[in-house]
Amino acid sequence: MTLKVLPKAVNQSRLARLWATKAVKPDAPGAPPTASLAPSLTRLDLLVIGVAQIIGAGIFVISGVGVKIAGPGILLAFALAGLACTLAALCYAELASLMPQAGSAYSYAYAIFGELPAWIIGWDLVLEYGMGACTVAAGWSFYCQDLLQVYGFSLPTWATGPPGSQPGRLINLPAAVVVLAFTLLLLFRTRLNALVARGLVGVKLTLIAFILILGFGRVNPQHWLPLAPFGPASIVQAAALLFFAYLGFDVISVTAEESRRPSRDVPFGIIGSLALCSLIYLAMSLVLLGLVPYPWIDPNAPFSTVFRQAGLPWVADVVAIGALVGITSVFYMLLLAQPRILFAMARDGLLPPWVAHLHPRYLTPQRLTLICGAVVALTASLTPIEKLAYLCNIGTLFAFFLVCLGTLLLRLKRPDLPRSFRCPLGKTIAAAGALICLALMLSMPAASWWRLGLWLLLGLVIYFLYAWRSPRHQNL
Ligand code: ALA
Repeated sequence: MTLKVLPKAVNQSRLARLWATKAVKPDAPGAPPTASLAPSLTRLDLLVIGVAQIIGAGIFVISGVGVKIAGPGILLAFALAGLACTLAALCYAELASLMPQAGSAYSYAYAIFGELPAWIIGWDLVLEYGMGACTVAAGWSFYCQDLLQVYGFSLPTWATGPPGSQPGRLINLPAAVVVLAFTLLLLFRTRLNALVARGLVGVKLTLIAFILILGFGRVNPQHWLPLAPFGPASIVQAAALLFFAYLGFDVISVTAEESRRPSRDVPFGIIGSLALCSLIYLAMSLVLLGLVPYPWIDPNAPFSTVFRQAGLPWVADVVAIGALVGITSVFYMLLLAQPRILFAMARDGLLPPWVAHLHPRYLTPQRLTLICGAVVALTASLTPIEKLAYLCNIGTLFAFFLVCLGTLLLRLKRPDLPRSFRCPLGKTIAAAGALICLALMLSMPAASWWRLGLWLLLGLVIYFLYAWRSPRHQNL
């Protein structure tokens, strides 16, 4: 069954092409054959991919900066950021149940708004996932070097960071090596990678459970108060930052095409992983704040320092390993997602067809995986990433904004479509989600807006030089 939302893109004039939409294709066993990724992922795999991608640098590192901004107010800041993400996640779940294809927000935008907006959002997602992977890989490198030092190993100075970050540094070698290693792994079957992700998530959750059990035994609830020592504005500011900690549930919608029963399992994966991670964040924040008075918490390595100060120095090493495993699974899943967005764009004819080539046996987009991995490895090894991390947040908020808006428009235009997951209070939730995402975007520094604008401009140049002129595939 193929449902058309608006006219098809084939045979449109060039101008009409800009706004031409693609058919909405619900889970369709009899659909015409196109180059498709192998559907191998179970419901549990999707949940695991979500948790793998969500819990990482946000809780292990950025929560410390959150405490510096809002003190115990991070409890409310986590709740606020979680609320914004929940609204967007419900919209993602509804659209993913309707359009279980590889491109996530790119595919939804193509069906709802048209080709040019879809290109813009696809290009934006490539930035989000690429910058996210670079940032997280650079963070991984520093945790790894810290841990190596504990055991008496150290790298030569030239290999420890990007040029300019400290005298003598030339390249962030660990970041490049780890990105390339996981890129090679991603050339194999997605099912194999889902199993590796399961292993990483298992270790990560076990270490977190261990940290929580030990931590709760020593918590002093009086340290949790006052809840807003620096006022409500500090809580909003911390929420805009801690938003990063929740990013990742959208990656599940990228893998929808590789799910065995996408209409049912993708909404479960999105909402389930977000709910589970929100509970974990609440528990971890209570431990972080409860062990010592909040001014003692180190913004750079919050969990390690509080355990040292609480008289459990060996737990600090466990925390470092937990953080390393957690961060590994985050960039691993980002490296999985980025080529799949480009794959969806290439399959639609917006990028040269040779990049959409699938490995004949593993049915994975191997060329794109290699290209994306090489670019991320190069960028992560040569760029001081910190400032670019904001790009990841603003790019994500832009995608969330469009997904919420798209859900609202589709509810108004096509209330009859068979949604196997319907967001409760759909129109209200979608409108509120769009507004909150826009408000958070407006709170970002001007430099991030400039950088996002430049990236999108580059995307538009590529679109008009190649995609706009290229022939469309018949499946559109
Ligand atoms: N949510 C991911 C993290 O915290 C991006 O690392």
